[in-house]
Amino acid sequence: MKNGEIIRNKRLKDNYFRVDFYSPELCKQAKAGQFAHVKICGIPNKVLRRPFSISDVSSEGLLTIIYKVVGAGTEALSSLKPGDTCDIMGPLGNPFSPSVKSDIPVIIAGGYGAAATYLIAKNSPSPGILLLGARTAKDLILTDEFKRLGFEVKVSTEDASEGYGGRVTGLMEELLADKNRRNMKFYACGPHGMLMAAGKLILQHGLDGELSLDHLMCCGVGACFACVVKVKADNSDGWRYARTCKEGPVFKASEVYYDLEPE
Ligand SMILES: Cc1cc2nc3c(=O)[nH]c(=O)nc-3n(C[C@H](O)[C@H](O)[C@H](O)COP(=O)(O)OP(=O)(O)OC[C@H]3O[C@@H](n4cnc5c(N)ncnc54)[C@H](O)[C@@H]3O)c2cc1C
Ligand code: FES
Repeated sequence: MKNGEIIRNKRLKDNYFRVDFYSPELCKQAKAGQFAHVKICGIPNKVLRRPFSISDVSSEGLLTIIYKVVGAGTEALSSLKPGDTCDIMGPLGNPFSPSVKSDIPVIIAGGYGAAATYLIAKNSPSPGILLLGARTAKDLILTDEFKRLGFEVKVSTEDASEGYGGRVTGLMEELLADKNRRNMKFYACGPHGMLMAAGKLILQHGLDGELSLDHLMCCGVGACFACVVKVKADNSDGWRYARTCKEGPVFKASEVYYDLEPE
């Protein structure tokens, strides 16, 4: 097998696909929260890579990515067959800090965020809780996989097509109101607005949490500054730009600059 060779590429649900690449070296090094920068073969602009979170790795050297088809690159990826080969750079970026036995890991995810946080759940010494939000039931993925890891899974949909009707932060507030739950450590990945709301809630409750800020990326290695977000800084503005590909994508909730600070 060649490095970057596709072993499987199948529809998971609706517009979500799962691809397994043969990538033994990357699998040995990968940590939860890191990403792979993939040059997708067969697209007109082959230069630009697309970043995808490392969803899973296996001892046989299989790297799993779960992706949603949203544009030309992911459309082309979905049409690739076993035996096709992509150039994969990685693992890149800073990972989540591992969960320890005394923690209850609480994962807050939206859309492909469930894929980006799966490895943290798989590697966690104690099972935790997944709060998964989406606009509609079609975008809820990997719930059975998290349940198989022993995680308690709660879902929310904005159109109330499944689970709690509303945003995932509603589920988070319910959980935070339960005073019996202690030692919660939060891990979040999803749309920017969701991450900002989740980060503020984590800080308001004095808890520990990390956010994966998956900004649009270009080079993926810190050279172009296409991927910056605001983080707190000890200067007159109170913030500076940080490159999500290099200093992130994972940041502590307490590091992120919120335009409105948590009350
Ligand atoms: C660190 C990181 C990890 C990621 N992990 C995953 C993953 O595990 N699974 C997955 O499906 N996607 C993931 N993404 C998003 C993925 O990179 C984009 O969906 C992909 O590059 C789109 O390529 P495209 O050519 O199909 O679409 P394009 O034509 O490039 O874009 C189509 C639409 O998607 C939007 N878009 C592109 N990139 C992003 C982004 N980063 N965030 C929000 N909107 C975006 C564009 O603004 C546009 O509206 C990740 C992004 C980053 C930065
Ligand atoms: S994508 Fe180029 S610096 Fe981050």
